[in-house]
Amino acid sequence: MSLNKLPQWYPQQPAIYDIHKTYLENAADGPFFSGPLPKRAMPPKEKWIDFLGHSVASPIGVAAGPLLTSRWVDLAGKLGFDIPIYKTIRSTEYPCHPLPNMVFVDTHGMIKHQAHPKSATLVMSPSPHLEDLAVTNSFGMPSKSPQFLIEDIPRANASLQDGQVMVVSVGGTVRSDCTFLEDFVKAAELAKNSGAKIIEANFSCPNIDKSEGCLYMTPATVFEIGKAIVRAVAPIPVIIKAGIFSSEEQMRDVFIAAARAGIRAVAGINTVSMAVIDEKGQPALGPKRLTSGICGGPIREVALQFVETAAKINRREKLDLTLIGVGGITLPEHFDLFFNAGADVAMSATGMMWDPYLAARYHQNHAKG
Ligand SMILES: Cc1cc2nc3c(=O)[nH]c(=O)nc-3n(C[C@H](O)[C@H](O)[C@H](O)COP(=O)(O)O)c2cc1C
Repeated sequence: MSLNKLPQWYPQQPAIYDIHKTYLENAADGPFFSGPLPKRAMPPKEKWIDFLGHSVASPIGVAAGPLLTSRWVDLAGKLGFDIPIYKTIRSTEYPCHPLPNMVFVDTHGMIKHQAHPKSATLVMSPSPHLEDLAVTNSFGMPSKSPQFLIEDIPRANASLQDGQVMVVSVGGTVRSDCTFLEDFVKAAELAKNSGAKIIEANFSCPNIDKSEGCLYMTPATVFEIGKAIVRAVAPIPVIIKAGIFSSEEQMRDVFIAAARAGIRAVAGINTVSMAVIDEKGQPALGPKRLTSGICGGPIREVALQFVETAAKINRREKLDLTLIGVGGITLPEHFDLFFNAGADVAMSATGMMWDPYLAARYHQNHAKG
C-alpha cells in the first residue's frame, strides 16, 4: 500500500485492541488489524540514530501496554514503530482486572496539572476527532507466565527488522516469599534471560508503602531498586518509567538518584489518575476501582511539560539521561512536539491502538522533508 493512500483508520475502523473483549482474548486473537501494511522507504543508515547502544531508523515507538505478545510487536514493527515496548511483565503469571478495562471518557478539556477537576465522565463512544481521543485503562498489570515469556520474547525480537529494537517492560509484585525489591529484580532477570536488549522498569506503579505515592517519586527508592536492577542485568541498559512529579525539585532529586544508580533513560509520563464517573455520578469501573489512569489526547500538555522540565534538569545537572516522551500522541505531528520539547525518543500507546498508521503517517511527513 502506497503511503499516500493510507486508509483513514479512525473512527471508520475498529481499534487493533477490542475493548469489549478480555485481555486474554485480545492476547490470544489480536491484534485486530485487517488493513494493508504500509510500504516504507527506510532512511539511509547514516541517518539512523543511536538509542541506548542500538542503531534505530527513527526515534518513534510504542509505549508499554498495547503490545501484548510477539504478534503485536511484529505488527508494530511492520507498521513503522521502530522502538516497540513489550508490555510490562512480572516474575510470575498474574491475572487481569475484570472487564471493563478500557472506557472512553470526557476529561472536560486538556488535563492541567494543578487546576483540573479530579474526575472524568464516562462516555459511550469516542470523540470523532482523533486528537481528543481519551480513554481510561485499568488492567492491574497482568502478566503471562515465565514459560510463555521465555519463548515469546525471542519471537518478538526476531520479528523486527534492521533499524528496530524492542524494549521489555518489567514490574515488581508484592509477595510473601521474597521482598518487593527481590521480586522486581527477578522480573528483570526473566526479561534478560528471555533475550531483552533493553529493559524498562515500571516505577510508575504504587509504592508498597502507600504513604510514599508511586515508586518513581522517592529518590531513595529509585536509587535502591534502580541500582539492584542495573547490577542484575548489566550490561543491558535500563530505563525507568515515571509519572508526573509534584515539583521540579522532586524531579531533579529523582533524576540525580537514577543517574547515580546507573539508569540510562527516563520515560514519562504514565497515565494520569482520576476518578471516572458515570452519568449517575457513580464510579464507572465499579466500587472497587474508584480511580483509574487517563490516557490519550488530554494528557499531552502535562506530558510535554514533563519532557521540558526533564530536559532542563538533564542539561543543567549533566546527567546524560536519554529522555523518552510519552502521553497524548494521537496525530503524527504530535511526535515533533515532544522532540521540540527535548525528548530524544517519543512513543504512543492509546493513539497507535486507534490509528495503527500513526507511524506510517509520521514517516510519510518526514520523507517529504
Ligand atoms: C492499554 C494500555 C495498557 C497500558 N499498560 C501499561 C503497562 O503495562 N506498563 C506501563 O508502564 N504503562 C502502561 N500503559 C501506559 C502507557 O505506556 C502510557 O504511559 C500512557 O498510556 C500515556 O500514553 P498515551 O497517552 O499515548 O496512551 C498502558 C496504556 C494503555 C493505553
